[in-house]
Amino acid sequence: TTTETSNKYLFKFKGFNFQKKLVTPDYLETMEDFETRDGDVFIITYPKSGTLWTQHILALIHYEGHRNGTENTETRQQIPFFDYNTCNLDFTQWPSPRMFCAHLPYYLVPKTLRNQKGKIIYVYRNPKDVLVSFFHFSKVLVGLGESPDLEHFLERFLSGNVTASSWFDHVRGWYMHKDEFNILFLSYEEMIKDLRTAVLKICNLVGKQLSDQEVDIVVDWATFKNMKADLRANYESLPEVFLKKGQGHFLRKGTTGDWKNIMTVAQSERFDKIFQEKMKDLPYKFIWDI
Ligand code: A3P
Repeated sequence: TTTETSNKYLFKFKGFNFQKKLVTPDYLETMEDFETRDGDVFIITYPKSGTLWTQHILALIHYEGHRNGTENTETRQQIPFFDYNTCNLDFTQWPSPRMFCAHLPYYLVPKTLRNQKGKIIYVYRNPKDVLVSFFHFSKVLVGLGESPDLEHFLERFLSGNVTASSWFDHVRGWYMHKDEFNILFLSYEEMIKDLRTAVLKICNLVGKQLSDQEVDIVVDWATFKNMKADLRANYESLPEVFLKKGQGHFLRKGTTGDWKNIMTVAQSERFDKIFQEKMKDLPYKFIWDI
């Protein structure tokens, strides 16, 4: 089930790329048999699509907008990575409702999620913005493998030679199998356009009824500006084994359409061609521009 890739930082487990330094095949073997519970919530994303943002929103919703004694707890501790369980936490002992995030493809998640035991929030984003965010991020996070320029990274991205493999396969896989899961699809663009509605959709999925004022607090805490300044939410405290200090930030720009500032026309057209080829039969209309 495990194979080498041409990228020395990655290995393939059942066909999907993981970062060598952060996870072992032995742990990955346990994931599919992990017993989910009804109240569990998994945020699932392709990297750079709004994982941290959704993590923070879900944590805030759970604590009704104020942190109820968790003021000093970091978001990433409240909603840890399920696949990149770098601290070897024993999630089986955690009280309900458990909340996780993961970059997993549909076929590697716990089998019980497929029987709708537990809920999923799947966040996706304009892949050109994902590409650009990922390119910058590969300079910040240790172990992603740096690319000298966007052209180089573009080829890696299009061929899926990055952690979490191909964006196209990820989104397609989750979309095609969505009916097997209890899942909310949410786009980064709709979150940018109307954060309040996105927050309410998440509340609805997880069965939390917040007052108008509590929703306002969640929305306010979850703005880019406030999250960037919030040490519990901005990941700046990640240890140096993970972060190359001074090279950039998790919360970089937080906008839509940044790809237009960096991709050339030729790169954009090449991207469009592959997008067409890979996604043309998907019965879904993506709305990328807000
Ligand atoms: P940019 O690099 O384009 O700025 P992930 O958490 O999946 O790694 O995604 C990271 C992207 O989400 C980054 O995009 C980051 O700035 C953006 N992001 C995080 N919090 C955000 C917020 N509150 N509002 C808008 N974008 C946010």
